[in-house]
Amino acid sequence: MRILITGGAGFIGSALALFLQENHEVLVVDKMRSGAVFENGNLECLGHFKNLLGFKGELYVADINEEKTLKIIKDFKPEIIFHKAAISDTTIYDQNKILTTNLNTFKEFIKLSIDLNAKLIYASSASVYGDAPSPQIVGINENPKNPYAFSKLMMDVLAQKYYDKAHLVGLRYFNVYGKGEFYKGKTSSMIVQFAHQILAGKNPRLFRGSDRIYRDFVYIKDCLEANIKAIEAKNGVYNVGSGKARTFQDIVDILQKELNTNLSCEYIKNPYEKFYQFHTQAKLDESFAYKPKYSLEEGIKDYLPEILRLFEKEVNV
Ligand SMILES: NC(=O)c1ccc[n+]([C@@H]2O[C@H](COP(=O)([O-])OP(=O)(O)OC[C@H]3O[C@@H](n4cnc5c(N)ncnc54)[C@H](O)[C@@H]3O)[C@@H](O)[C@H]2O)c1
Repeated sequence: MRILITGGAGFIGSALALFLQENHEVLVVDKMRSGAVFENGNLECLGHFKNLLGFKGELYVADINEEKTLKIIKDFKPEIIFHKAAISDTTIYDQNKILTTNLNTFKEFIKLSIDLNAKLIYASSASVYGDAPSPQIVGINENPKNPYAFSKLMMDVLAQKYYDKAHLVGLRYFNVYGKGEFYKGKTSSMIVQFAHQILAGKNPRLFRGSDRIYRDFVYIKDCLEANIKAIEAKNGVYNVGSGKARTFQDIVDILQKELNTNLSCEYIKNPYEKFYQFHTQAKLDESFAYKPKYSLEEGIKDYLPEILRLFEKEVNV
């Protein structure tokens, strides 16, 4: 099949690209990182060439907001579109920029999928739930706390209006971790960040009360599986988590056990307290064929060789 992956040089998109290239013709469209930064100093685009080392498909570097990019995509005639490109940084408050890229452009992709009769599988986010009580359920108590989360909720609302015209599946990722996230820097998961603090012999730095801050951490291999299952799923929005809530303290404890260390933790004030999610846990939809396989312990164990490689080749140089 002919498959388009937007944001294919990013974390989740590149995992998909490397997996799908074995049996399909894959086009990756990504703007790639440059020196451009948002008002808070964070990079505008996080796509990194190292995520695509070994990729044998076509890479086209372009902005999804531009007309000419849509033309290139149309000419490629994809049968499936995995739409992952987005401003994925939850700490950006430029509402105009976020909603233009994440929401307006999504409408163009819906139109494209109708015109091309292509399946459209897009990235939503568990951030849409805000502080909704756990377990979070699609359609219940969604309460976005930042422009990014709002943009993702509005994508789901928009998609619904076209369910009778196209194959549209939204995947609400919870906290994804694993190979490919390293180049997201500050916005990569706390799993790789804590691991590298520990490997450097530093005391892991956690927010105060981290043994009571719960997240549904989902491993990249499960996330990949959800995308594949989405190809045959009914139109709708589905949670993609592990279905279990674990704490940030759990991460540090598992890592210290695996790495054979016993560093004492440093607890700091949480600067995001007012906008923070304190308990996320996906309620998984029985009608969706996706069934996560990795517990936090198993995911970390599987990820460790890559964490160690990164520490040696990228961090500790
Ligand atoms: N990683 C997670 O835990 C998580 C959780 C919830 C939702 N999501 C969503 O999943 C998707 C993928 O996330 P990720 O973690 O891989 O993020 P990422 O930032 O690594 O990947 C996004 C990619 O999109 C590209 N991009 C951004 N703006 C673009 C533009 N205007 N034109 C072309 N390319 C552009 C970036 O260069 C980057 O490669 C995003 O939509 C994100 O919002 C991720």
